[in-house]
Amino acid sequence: MTIFMVKTLISIVFLVLALFGAFTMFETLGRSEKRFDTDRLKKAHRINGILFFAVFLVLAGLGMAYIARTGAELSPRATFHVMLAHSVLFLFLLKLAIVKAYRQFYGKVAAIGITVVLLALGTVASSTGYYILSGGLTPKSPRAAADASGTPETSKQGLSADTVGVQKGKDLYGSKCLSCHDIESASATGSPGLKGVMKLKALPSSGRPATADNIALQLKKPYKKMPAFPELTEEEVTNLVAYMKTL
Ligand code: HEC
Repeated sequence: MTIFMVKTLISIVFLVLALFGAFTMFETLGRSEKRFDTDRLKKAHRINGILFFAVFLVLAGLGMAYIARTGAELSPRATFHVMLAHSVLFLFLLKLAIVKAYRQFYGKVAAIGITVVLLALGTVASSTGYYILSGGLTPKSPRAAADASGTPETSKQGLSADTVGVQKGKDLYGSKCLSCHDIESASATGSPGLKGVMKLKALPSSGRPATADNIALQLKKPYKKMPAFPELTEEEVTNLVAYMKTL
């Protein structure tokens, strides 16, 4: 099972918890004539909140592990997803702080709670929603098939924006860099081989730290004998770096 599949299944639980949290809150604060016992509702709301937060942490951990593993720059959608997740976290903690300590703000709690739920829905929609719509759960989709067999894909259909970036970087590298920089070796003589270059502590010629910024610098103002590539756009450089991280 891929990390996306696991995240998708867990986020459905997350969604249910978010909605149940909203439901218990509405029933507690929103009705003049109570349908349920208020104390039990409050208790259910509290336990639900703990579960919600625990599941949130699991999802955040999986997401962060994925970013750490690929190391590539995030796609705009993924960036949006991460931002939404952060807002859920901070608002949730704010709500907790008000309930536990800063009771003078208690009147704001309901509004914050609703915002947390809406942001949680957005967080799930921007990741799980996208994953499901792009065919991630359909076994025969190109992506699921490739995930299952572990083979690299040749078709662009069903690829995430991050993977497309790597593919573009690879094409660019092939046309502009490969003639001088071998990717099969890391030999440092002449034009250095760039196998595993982003995993090194230092770049082979200059000894500068192997960071995306220093690659960008090397392309704009090369260290010593390499020609400059001032025509490359920021996006192209990002794609190149994403690809070089896979070497
Ligand atoms: C005409 C040959 C040539 C081409 C084309 C070329 N390079 Fe280089 N590159 C060099 C040489 C030579 C060096 C070593 C610099 C030195 O020590 O003089 C180098 C060094 C580097 C380094 C190591 C820099 C450091 O700080 O140690 C990186 C990274 C690099 N090149 C990336 C690229 C990328 C990415 C491209 C394609 C956009 C590219 N190069 C295209 C010749 C080339």
